Amino acid sequence: MALDRKPNPNDLNAFWMPFTANRQFKKAPRMFVAAKDMHYTTSEGRQVLDGTAGLWCCNAGHCRPKITEAIAKQAAELDYAPAFQMGHPAAFELANRIIEIAPKGMEHVFYTNSGSESVETALKLAIAYHRARGEGARTRLIGRERGYHGVNFGGISVGGIVTNRKVFGTLLGGVDHLPHTHLPAQNAFTRGQPEQGANLADELERIVALHGAETIAAVIVEPMAGSTGVLLPPKGYLEKLRAITKKHGILLIFDEVITGFGRLGSAFAAQHYNVLPDMMTTAKGLTNGVIPMGAVMTTAEVHDAFMQGPEHMIELFHGYTYSGNPIASVAGIATLEVYKEEGLFERAASLAPYWEDALHSLKGTRHVIDIRNEGLIGAVELEPIAGEPTKRAFTAFLKAYEKGILIRTTGDIIAMSPPLIIEKAQIDQLIGTLREVLESLD
Ligand SMILES: Cc1ncc(COP(=O)(O)O)c(C=O)c1O
Repeated sequence: MALDRKPNPNDLNAFWMPFTANRQFKKAPRMFVAAKDMHYTTSEGRQVLDGTAGLWCCNAGHCRPKITEAIAKQAAELDYAPAFQMGHPAAFELANRIIEIAPKGMEHVFYTNSGSESVETALKLAIAYHRARGEGARTRLIGRERGYHGVNFGGISVGGIVTNRKVFGTLLGGVDHLPHTHLPAQNAFTRGQPEQGANLADELERIVALHGAETIAAVIVEPMAGSTGVLLPPKGYLEKLRAITKKHGILLIFDEVITGFGRLGSAFAAQHYNVLPDMMTTAKGLTNGVIPMGAVMTTAEVHDAFMQGPEHMIELFHGYTYSGNPIASVAGIATLEVYKEEGLFERAASLAPYWEDALHSLKGTRHVIDIRNEGLIGAVELEPIAGEPTKRAFTAFLKAYEKGILIRTTGDIIAMSPPLIIEKAQIDQLIGTLREVLESLD
């Protein structure tokens, strides 16, 4: 089928775009019409190097034949099967394959369709788990400032990005927040995990003392916070969170929607940091971003608490029409095969030092006030224009796109997370172009 490469295929008005400056976009649209491996093709026929793996999700690069063929075959064979009270083999196979690469201790998989739904699922599971064990007073959920857990009500309640919360009313009750771990005065330009800040996990003891452990169901954090601008866990921080939650019988949930599937050089951040939570939320890289799918992993202890009562009864009144959808399931299986066959997690680990050096070579470039990195993820923080927050980074994003690289911005932070198939020369192109862009900014 020929691609329609017209810049404005039709009226742009009807589509209300998510997390987008709609009016700006519709005056000067940026359209992708094709993608292959490390590149997008724009509607003008330009190649753009993907510095962000789409939205942190296309970890194996774009339009990988193994994945697209699996999808086409499954769509023609079994397009849909009811998700409730019926099964199909691919969903079970994928669950086993996820558990195969998960940290030891994760034993069960509950399917969703996105990161946001994975988060809602994990939060609901946490509360219901305690109730099933006779501790029904444990309903409080603890998140963290600057945390991003998607956009549904549970996720924005435990999340801590102010713009994502403040216009949406009172949110979920019974939520408290840990302080964020961003300490630029002590940790600016740190390579990898910062030295300072593990003590911020002790704030959980203060929160426990305030509310009583017997009222707290779970703590949810991103082991490495991505969407807020790549904030690394200080050395020892996650270990402390684990120890304190365990001591008080509180579940620990790692939101691995970005860190899952190789981003840090291990399958999951839990392995990279060697800290085992009770639940892990995933999405994005599970299907290489190709088909919406998420998965929550739990320990046997969490799962088994629900497996009681008469066997004909549904144990958990929760799930989605598309939980474990056949096409998404085969996309997931094919994706995990590509990761394995090409050793992409190991590749991310072995490229990480080169990535780190390239990124930190931007120190001293105009406007740069901090650089952070881990695995194949990195952030360059810019000095905001006085009185016009976000404008400098957004201008950098637009100029970068014109110069043929795709980056992402949040506030005045530029974040990059290329597909794990990136070559060294492409890292040089990404960072070199970004340097030119930054030097050209007011
Ligand atoms: C840590 C984390 N949780 C949840 C989400 C939400 O995922 P989705 O956009 O698929 O709902 C994201 C998305 O970036 C994320 O980074």
